Amino acid sequence: MLEQPTARLDAVRLDGLIEALARDGYAVAPGLFDFGLVDRLLAAAELRESSGALARAAIGREAGRNLETGVRNVEACWLDSSDTAEAEFLNLAEQVRVSINRRLFLGLFEFEAQLLVYPPGGYYKRHLDSFAGARNRIVSLVAYLNRDWKEGDGGELDIWRTPTDEGAPAVTVAPCAGTIVLMLSEEIPHAVRPSAAVRRVIAGWFRVNASASGRVDPAR
Ligand code: OGA
Ligand code: MN
Repeated sequence: MLEQPTARLDAVRLDGLIEALARDGYAVAPGLFDFGLVDRLLAAAELRESSGALARAAIGREAGRNLETGVRNVEACWLDSSDTAEAEFLNLAEQVRVSINRRLFLGLFEFEAQLLVYPPGGYYKRHLDSFAGARNRIVSLVAYLNRDWKEGDGGELDIWRTPTDEGAPAVTVAPCAGTIVLMLSEEIPHAVRPSAAVRRVIAGWFRVNASASGRVDPAR
């Protein structure tokens, strides 16, 4: 049997990224994963899209208390390791999880991720991925799959420094293939500007085991 190519992240760059995450609460790494993996993930995404697996996303269970219509316009489905490209991506995320735990002692326990497909006109208004104190989603990871992204395509990710920061975003990220963003889920507000083109993303969350603290962790 042919060995699947297994992508690995550059350990030195990953260390730098985690240092920035600890210092700033967010970190942006253009070109962190390669176009080979991007293309395999896009092929997997197309299969999911054509099989009708994507559904108009409600706000996730974390933000359930914040349910608002008009917060986002995007379709989503959960990733799993039955697809080899997605399994490869989940392996990369595992590498990130282990490195974060080694350097920051966050005790991240598991990773869950969604494929998100924004239609033209799709957006996601400013939000946090988790409520402070919920102790569930701790670090968010966003990975972009858009080859040939152009300035006028929109869909940039705006990131602010703190929940109360109402000023201009600290950084604005183009959703170009290979870019990975890490953010502290409870502390870093972010928003997706309206996208003119179809915009594909993997958005995932490193979680701690909330059941261990006496709270029953809800099933997906
Ligand atoms: C999210 C999110 C960012 C993006 O799914 O929670 O913030 O760039 N996604 O799509
Ligand atoms: Mn988010």
